[in-house]
Amino acid sequence: MAAKEKTLEDLFLMGLKDIYYAEKQILRALPKMAKAAESDELRQAFETHREETEGQVERLEQVFELLGKRAQGKTCEAIQGIIEEGKEIMEDFADSEALDAGLLAAAQSVEHYEISRYGTLRTWAQELGMQDAAKLLEETLEEEKKTDQLLTQLAEARVNRKAAA
Ligand SMILES: [Fe+2]
Ligand SMILES: [Fe+2]
Repeated sequence: MAAKEKTLEDLFLMGLKDIYYAEKQILRALPKMAKAAESDELRQAFETHREETEGQVERLEQVFELLGKRAQGKTCEAIQGIIEEGKEIMEDFADSEALDAGLLAAAQSVEHYEISRYGTLRTWAQELGMQDAAKLLEETLEEEKKTDQLLTQLAEARVNRKAAA
C-alpha cells in the first residue's frame, strides 16, 4: 500500500499491535522482577501489576474486536530494549543494596512507555469516533498512571528509610 493511502485507522491498528506485544513481554518480565525484589512492598507491587496486566491484555483484545481485527502483536523494539535494560540491572546488581533502586527505575521506564502509548491510542480512538475503544484504553491508562505513582512512593520511601538508618 502506498503511504499516501494509509489512514489514521492503520496507524491506530499498528499502535495496538505494538502495545499488545509490549504487554505480553511485560507479563513475562513482571514475575522475574517480583522474584528479584528485595522489599516485600515492591514484590507485592509487581505481583499486583502482573494481575492488572492480564486485564489490560484482555482490554486490548476487546479493542481489536471492536475494530473487527484479529488480536495480533508486532515486535516492539522499544519495549524489548527497556526490558533488556531491566534484566541487566537484575544481573549486575543482584544481591546489592542498589538492586531495588534499579528495579524501581526499570519498572518506571516501562510504565512511562505505556503511559505514552496508551495516551496516544486513547486520543486516536476518540478522533476515529471509537468511544468504546477510547474508554477501554483510558481505563488501562489510569492503571498505568496509578502504578507509576505507587512506584514513585516506593522509591521515596526507600530513600527516606535509608536516610533514617
Ligand atoms: Fe500495561
Ligand atoms: Fe504497566
